[in-house]
Amino acid sequence: MSDSPLLIQDADGIRTITIHRPDKLNALNAATLDALDQAFADAGADDEVRVVVLTGSGPKAFVAGADIAEMNSLTPVQGRDFSLRGTRMMRRVERLPKPVIAMVNGFALGGGLELAMCCHLRIAADTAKVGQPEINLGLIPGFGGTQRLLRLCGRAATLELCLTGAPIAADRALQLGIVNRVVPAAELEAETMKLAAQLAASAPLALRGMLDCVNVGGECGIEEGLEYEAAQFGLVFSTADMREGTSAFLEKRKPTFHGR
Ligand code: COA
Repeated sequence: MSDSPLLIQDADGIRTITIHRPDKLNALNAATLDALDQAFADAGADDEVRVVVLTGSGPKAFVAGADIAEMNSLTPVQGRDFSLRGTRMMRRVERLPKPVIAMVNGFALGGGLELAMCCHLRIAADTAKVGQPEINLGLIPGFGGTQRLLRLCGRAATLELCLTGAPIAADRALQLGIVNRVVPAAELEAETMKLAAQLAASAPLALRGMLDCVNVGGECGIEEGLEYEAAQFGLVFSTADMREGTSAFLEKRKPTFHGR
């Protein structure tokens, strides 16, 4: 049996990546960060993969944070390298040219919330809890937590979560805009897969265009963002999928998209 910290499954254009360290609540050690980086590079390069679902093994945790045992003895230089290792991987996830859904099946704490936040969509079980508890360890978030929370839900909630370290329930995370949806735990997988199937049947190059626009637009002014969207909009007219989608509408039939 493989000792990889990940389980990877493919079905109908949906690749499910499961972080599999259930005895450590799927904590992110260096080996897991590297395995995720490779897994997302592979998913990005594989045209058969239309959507990625990311989750954690077991009923209890999505990811309970960066691996505290591994961090305990790091030097400052190693700490910086550990942070950059996670940050690079998460930037890859965020910039993947296809949608990534975090299926938040339990605790998403510290690096776990940071990982969920770099996914494009988050569906949480009603039993999930999220937070940035690094302060309880004398640490600060190191995989982009202060930056992505700020962009997702503003200054007040970011400072509350980071300064207090207190985890919040899924419903509160929904109110704050940290997750997109909360569903009963028993329905989490079915609801996530329904959304993934919808995205897997959508036009891949149009999805990619929107992901690019939101990634670029999040970092630039409105004029540049609107120009960028106009350029991407024009580019979509070069795709067979756009002809198919508009023709299918006019012919009153369902479109079939091939990513061309
Ligand atoms: N890093 C390393 N190991 C972790 C971990 C982490 N972030 N989170 C949990 N674990 C390990 C525990 O050490 C324990 O291992 P052990 O059985 O070998 O002792 C195992 O996972 C189960 O965790 P445990 O604490 O016994 O479960 P619990 O149900 O009592 O508590 C949590 C669950 C999530 C509240 C608790 O594990 C926790 O606070 N984890 C740390 C969260 C955190 O601070 N994350 C940010 C890190 S920067």
